[in-house]
Amino acid sequence: MVDYVILAYTSVTAAGIVLVWYAWNNRRSKRIVFGRKCKLNDFMLKEWVTYCNHGSFGTVPRKVIETQRKFQLERESDPDCWYRYQVEDIYLSAVDKVAQFVGSDKENLVLLDNVTTGVNTVIKSLRWSPGDKILITNHTYEAVKKTVVFVNQMNPEIDVVTMKITFPIESKRQLVNTLKETLDANEGVKLVILDHMTSVSALLMPLEDMIPVCRQKNVMVMVDGAHAPGHVPLEVEKLGADFYTGNLHKWCFAPRGCAFLHINPKYSDIIQPLVTSHGQFEPRLCDRFKSQATRDYTSFCAAISAVEFLEEIGMDAITHYNTNMIEWAADMLSNGWGTPRLAIHPTVRAPFMALIKLPRKDGDKLPAVNYANSEQLISIFYKKYDIVCAFTVVDGEFWVRISAHIYNCKEDYFKLRDAVLALITRLD
Ligand SMILES: Cc1ncc(COP(=O)(O)O)c(C=O)c1O
Repeated sequence: MVDYVILAYTSVTAAGIVLVWYAWNNRRSKRIVFGRKCKLNDFMLKEWVTYCNHGSFGTVPRKVIETQRKFQLERESDPDCWYRYQVEDIYLSAVDKVAQFVGSDKENLVLLDNVTTGVNTVIKSLRWSPGDKILITNHTYEAVKKTVVFVNQMNPEIDVVTMKITFPIESKRQLVNTLKETLDANEGVKLVILDHMTSVSALLMPLEDMIPVCRQKNVMVMVDGAHAPGHVPLEVEKLGADFYTGNLHKWCFAPRGCAFLHINPKYSDIIQPLVTSHGQFEPRLCDRFKSQATRDYTSFCAAISAVEFLEEIGMDAITHYNTNMIEWAADMLSNGWGTPRLAIHPTVRAPFMALIKLPRKDGDKLPAVNYANSEQLISIFYKKYDIVCAFTVVDGEFWVRISAHIYNCKEDYFKLRDAVLALITRLD
């Protein structure tokens, strides 16, 4: 009898422990499935391809694609009705939702195709005078750099200044000081362009400390937030940049062609859409940007569904999963390859991306280190190993840039580790 009581007591206690453990592990999320099951259930990704590069193009959940498809079908069932009477309300609801998500007043935010459009919109709306300077960094995204160079060609009387980011980065202060020193050494900077997270090095800029430096110098700041929405909590209005543009089609799971531009209201009269159309002479910012001829608005319409997808899982749960995965993967790859991670202090690392140096062997047949060849490595990897990851060039070396999102699992990075080791020994 005593044995039965002990057995019952032990079983109830064990069940209780299991329940508490389960509740604790899943306290952050209503949905509990991440990793491979998530990839197969919630995304349309090819089962046999390993995706370790969310950072380049993102991927769109099945549910969000279905929402966009629903809008497309609705439009095609009655195009006149859609464009004349329906699309505006849906678009404005999307602006509302996105504005709430990124901490903006909806009057100060417009939707656009991508960050490249956001950057172009601002730089080409501003008026430039002789002696003006635009400050970028040596890690500014290539397309943004080309936009600046082009504007410089159109306005040869202005100059481009490059702030040099060097490694190791040991603190936030180091970046803030480099910005101060570059501004001190270059009178006449009118606009500073800062990446919230750099593409080539996965560096998280301490904007909360860098923007005030620009404010003190009376210099305008535009933030390229291509990687930020859905990756780090955003309060664009509080950040205080003059212009902030961010992609929703990367870490935020919106269909491609979905980004926003936040404009400090003091500039809302001078910022014009890149494409002149019906809204051009409207006084309200939103009205100028919303009717850009006959375009496909469905990626904007589906932005609501994308943000809801994130909210349903919970940003806390996503951050917990992705940061644990990226830290584990970066350390595992670094040990497996015998090469270091890029020397960036943890406080300035992009939370869901990391760089690990590509290992080299004496006499390996890797191509010369340059941007074009990093693209070639991406292609070799995809074709030979069905693995998608990014290769970048920092300080004259190749680096592997990995990403982690909710559909990744440890197996993805083990495959990547083994493929890299195979590649450097067997490249032909
Ligand atoms: C830092 C950064 N800026 C800008 C862009 C451009 O984004 P899009 O091609 O969506 O305009 C990217 C794209 O990866 C990026 O990484």
